[in-house]
Amino acid sequence: MKIAFAKGTVKLGVQLATAAAVILPMIALTPLARAAPPAPANGSALYKAQCAMCHSTISGRNMLGPSLAGVANRKAGSVAGFAYSPAMKKSKLKWDKATLDRYLADPRKTVPGTKMIYAGQKDAAKRAALVAYLMTLK
Ligand code: HEC
Repeated sequence: MKIAFAKGTVKLGVQLATAAAVILPMIALTPLARAAPPAPANGSALYKAQCAMCHSTISGRNMLGPSLAGVANRKAGSVAGFAYSPAMKKSKLKWDKATLDRYLADPRKTVPGTKMIYAGQKDAAKRAALVAYLMTLK
């Protein structure tokens, strides 16, 4: 009797340990168990801080860079009256989410010879927020 009881206890112990080994990592992986997540990147605030000094969002108002009003799905280098680099004019890009993401990640790699002086946004979440904001500009 005693032995059987002890065996049962060991078995239960093993089962509990197995369950813990499965469940604990699951808990650790749930977002709630992690430290507070960073605030979501704010595209319009990022734009104001990093782009607005060169780009207006008002149609026809070109500054150091072309107006970005209506940039979504526009052909690269196509704003009237803006003196683009030959590289941008020849790039044959169309500004959609994917091409904007690539250009903003590394302007000089995506359009070698571009005259946009911007080192690139290396943070993918910030880039995604910026691109989402650009896509809303009418
Ligand atoms: C120092 C000024 C400057 C800053 C800062 C800057 N740009 Fe530019 N941007 C330019 C210039 C100049 C061009 C034209 C590039 C060319 O002709 O090669 C350009 C071109 C572009 C284009 C292509 C537009 C078109 O009509 O084809 C996009 C899109 C763009 N910039 C987005 C951004 C975004 C988004 C930011 C901020 C994250 C930014 N730029 C920051 C100067 C700037």
